[in-house]
Amino acid sequence: MSRQTRQTGTARQTGQGRQSAADTQAAPQAAPAPDVGPGRARQAQIYRAGALGQQPRVPADADGLERRARRAMSRRAWAYVAGGAGSGRTVRANRQAFQRWSILPRMLAGAATRDLGTTLLGRRLPAPLLLAPIGAADLVRRGADLLSAAAAAELAVPYVISSQGCSPMEEVAAAMGAGPRWFQLYWSTDEALVDSLLRRAEAVGAEAVVVTLDTTMLGWRPQDLNLGSLPFVQGIGIAQYTSDPRFREVVAERLASGRAGGRPARVTPGAVRTLVSVSRRHPGSLRHNLRSPEPRAAVEAFLDIYSNPGLSWDHLATLRERTSLPIVLKGILHPDDARRALDLGVSAIVVSNHAGRQVDGAIASLDALPAIRAAVGGGLPLILDSGVRSGSDIFTALALGADAVAIGRPYLYGLALDGRSGVRDVVANIVAELDLTMGLSGVRSVDDISPAMLTGPSSPSP
Ligand SMILES: Cc1cc2nc3c(=O)[nH]c(=O)nc-3n(C[C@H](O)[C@H](O)[C@H](O)COP(=O)(O)O)c2cc1C
Repeated sequence: MSRQTRQTGTARQTGQGRQSAADTQAAPQAAPAPDVGPGRARQAQIYRAGALGQQPRVPADADGLERRARRAMSRRAWAYVAGGAGSGRTVRANRQAFQRWSILPRMLAGAATRDLGTTLLGRRLPAPLLLAPIGAADLVRRGADLLSAAAAAELAVPYVISSQGCSPMEEVAAAMGAGPRWFQLYWSTDEALVDSLLRRAEAVGAEAVVVTLDTTMLGWRPQDLNLGSLPFVQGIGIAQYTSDPRFREVVAERLASGRAGGRPARVTPGAVRTLVSVSRRHPGSLRHNLRSPEPRAAVEAFLDIYSNPGLSWDHLATLRERTSLPIVLKGILHPDDARRALDLGVSAIVVSNHAGRQVDGAIASLDALPAIRAAVGGGLPLILDSGVRSGSDIFTALALGADAVAIGRPYLYGLALDGRSGVRDVVANIVAELDLTMGLSGVRSVDDISPAMLTGPSSPSP
C-alpha cells in the first residue's frame, strides 16, 4: 500500500516497536514512560547505562559504526561488505545524494507522540524499515542469518532472506517465530530450481518474493578481485542451493557426467583451506565431505547456474503463474522500467543500485526515486535502499516518495560488533532517530512526511 493510501497505525502497534527498542541492552533496563516514543526511550536507555559507566558497544552514528566494525572484521569480510563496483563512485553517490537534501522543520506542531507505523503488502509494521537481503554474511560472523533474522523478528521488522544466504531458509524461518520474512530470488538458469526455491519460500511463510534484477552477473568489484576472494568459492553463501532438492539433482547429474569434483591441480595451503571451508559448510559430516567430490561439484554447479545473464521481461511474465506470493522487483532505477513493472502487476518495487556494487557510475538510488514515484503514481509501494544510514535519511527518502527503506551494511556492522544484539541496536538507533526527527520537525505520522518538508536541488526556497 502506498503512503497515499496508507492507514494510520494504532498506538499498540507503534508501542511494539518501542518495547523492542527499550530491550536492546542487557542492563540496566530503563522503564520508559509508555508514551515517550522510541527516540526518547532509546536515549534514556543509553544515558542511564552511561551514568553507570557503560558505553554502547554499537556507536550511535553511522561513521563511527562503520569505523568500529571495520576493526572487528577480517580483510576479506571488509572487502566483500564495504566494497563497491569499480572506482566506488556510486557507493559515494548514494551518500552524497542524501546530503543534497535538507529538512525544513516546522515548529509548534504539538507532535508530542508520533506514529512511525506503516502498512506494507498488507502487514502493519512498527516503522517503515526492512532488513535488506544480504548474501555470504557468515563472512562477518558465523550464524549471521539466524542472528540477524532473530533480531529483526524481535523488532517486528521484515527480514529479507537472501538467495545467497548462509543458512537454509527453513532454519532462518525457524529462528524467527512469527516475525515477518520475505524471500529474495536470484533467477537461476535452471527453471526447475527457480520453482523449487519459490515452493520453499511459500512453505516457510515468506510474505513476498523479491526478484533481484540488477545482479544477473557480479559487478566488477576491485576490493574482492584484489584479494582473489569470492565467498561462494569457499562454500560461503550457497546454503539455499545445497539444501535444495532440485539443486542436489543438478549436482548429481554433473557428477554422473564426470564434469566436476576433480582435485585442484596444485595442492597449496590456500587450496586446502578452500577444501576445508567448502566441506565444512556442505550438508553432511566434515569427514565424509572431505573425501567426497560432491561439495566441490556443488560449488561449481552453483557458479554455473545461480543467475541468468539473459534475464528478461519474458521471464518475469511467467512468475505470476508460478507463485502465489506478492512479487517485488528489486534494482529498478529507470522510470520506464518502473512503469513496466507496474504494468506487470507487481506489488512493490525496490529502488536500488545494490549499494553501488554493480554498475560503477550508476545513478544514486535516492536520485532515481522522485522520477520513479512520478512514473508509477501514488498506488505502488516503493522501497528505497542503498546509502540509508540514519533516521534522518529515512525521513528524506519518505519525503521523496518512498513508502519504506531497506538497510544493508549498517546491520552487518552491528552484527560484526555484537551479534544479534548489535543488529537490534543498529535498527533501534535508526528508528529512534527517525522518531526524534519527526517530532522535532513537527510531524506526527509517517504519512505526513511530504516533499514540502524538504529543500534541495530542484525545490524553490520556501
Ligand atoms: C555484503 C552485501 C551482500 C548483499 N547480498 C545481496 C543479496 O544476496 N541479494 C540482494 O538482492 N542484494 C544483496 N545486497 C544488496 C542489499 O540487499 C541492499 O540492496 C544494499 O545493501 C542496500 O544498501 P546499503 O548497504 O547501503 O544499506 C548485498 C549487499 C551487501 C553490502
